[in-house]
Amino acid sequence: MSISGAGPRRLHVITWGCQMNVYDSGRMADVLAPLGYAPSPVPEGADMVILNTCHIRDKAAEKVFSELGRLRRLKDRRAADGERMILAVAGCVAQAEGAEILARAPYVDIVLGPQTYHRLPEMVARAARAGGAVIETDFPPEDKFDFLPDSAAPQGITAFLTIQEGCDRFCSFCVVPYTRGAETSRPAAAVIAEARRLIGQGAREITLLGQNVNAWHGEAPDGSTWGLGRLLRELASLPDLWRLRYTTSHPRDMSEELIAAHRDLPILMPFLHLPVQSGSDRVLAAMNRRHNAADYLRLVEKLRNARPDIALSSDFIIGHPGETEADFRATLALVRSVGFAQAFSFKYSPRPGTPAAGAPAQVPNAEKERRLAELQALLRDQQARFNAACVGRFLPVLFTGPGRHCGQVAGRSPFLQPVHVTGPQELIGREISVAIRSALPNSLSGTRWPGQA
Ligand code: SAH
Ligand code: SF4
Ligand code: F3S
Repeated sequence: MSISGAGPRRLHVITWGCQMNVYDSGRMADVLAPLGYAPSPVPEGADMVILNTCHIRDKAAEKVFSELGRLRRLKDRRAADGERMILAVAGCVAQAEGAEILARAPYVDIVLGPQTYHRLPEMVARAARAGGAVIETDFPPEDKFDFLPDSAAPQGITAFLTIQEGCDRFCSFCVVPYTRGAETSRPAAAVIAEARRLIGQGAREITLLGQNVNAWHGEAPDGSTWGLGRLLRELASLPDLWRLRYTTSHPRDMSEELIAAHRDLPILMPFLHLPVQSGSDRVLAAMNRRHNAADYLRLVEKLRNARPDIALSSDFIIGHPGETEADFRATLALVRSVGFAQAFSFKYSPRPGTPAAGAPAQVPNAEKERRLAELQALLRDQQARFNAACVGRFLPVLFTGPGRHCGQVAGRSPFLQPVHVTGPQELIGREISVAIRSALPNSLSGTRWPGQA
């Protein structure tokens, strides 16, 4: 049996997890393009399927195994027709549980960690030749970004750009330092070159990515070291770029220079995802977050002084080991005093190998669920208020694609809200002032400001 002969090979990629995984999936497709692999929207008939996985919470890993079971049937069916389907598992589950994947799903051909994507063509060649599985979950000495191709499929009007990867913060609950490795920053010149390429391909909004993106400290063109605030200033001057964002940030790494960038750069969108995780100083200390609730509130005040219209988003973990009812109340109090435009909240999920997983005083599941429901009701209410407060305003909307209904186009406000507008598809790729007429829990709708094309 061989991998298919003539004609393009079909590659289907399934992506879970954070935006960096979305970016990585694109880069894996770029690496495989010279081998003749073209994207396929469905796994049926694909010559290769990659599962790009996330290990952040328990359910994520279980999803991988159930998807693998489904793909196994496709692979068997293809084999019965004399065709080969290469099945690869990439991403953070692959990094953390590579051997277990091969034990539980021996029909998987390739297991590769996030730092080895540039080696994918060689792994595919080995998998095609050999019967056994290929596993690459080392943290290789070379930097994958030096080996990923410059040519890449366009991402569209909004694009992601990884500038920083890995994390040295070791929060008690988190697998990322183990799955993504130590914190690394790409040099400024490489970031600027990639941004230029994305803009050349039509990107008008770029979101800089990193697990701890505001810890970015890259080599500057003059050999010195820049921080993220300085990098943003540089990117802000690129022609034909209209919007800049960055995610995800740690509160401890919000430098004065970065806060000043929010004051000085109109291109930097007034929206910041700044996870706080808890409002209790006891829990924050147990989490090894190295900031307390007051530090966070002071930071929010500084940001609002710099950019009064800035909207804030956050992540919360409910039921970290040791969290009491009083700790939980402190989280509600912090949420009330900040007022979030949107937020993500999760039940604490013990992750193997992390310090919190083995801690005594695990919070019972029923208690986590009760607290989470109460927090989510408050966050939903804040989001609804934030959205409702936009009604009657004019917001610039960058249109990115067709809307939910026929004759509609959809885009994003500066605050990252989805906005739906009745209008022609020609609006896609343009930024236009929209009169916001109504708000739903997670989106807005409006009409184009009269007089505009
Ligand atoms: N680098 C980011 C977070 C990356 S993980 C930061 O520093 O905040 C994304 C979110 O997943 C985290 O903010 C956290 O809220 C959640 N998360 C991480 N580990 C978790 C766990 N073990 N259980 C539940 N939620 C978790
Ligand atoms: Fe995980 Fe973020 Fe903490 Fe790093 S800073 S360990 S990525 S939660
Ligand atoms: Fe998940 Fe890995 Fe991202 S664990 S959230 S895919 S860094």
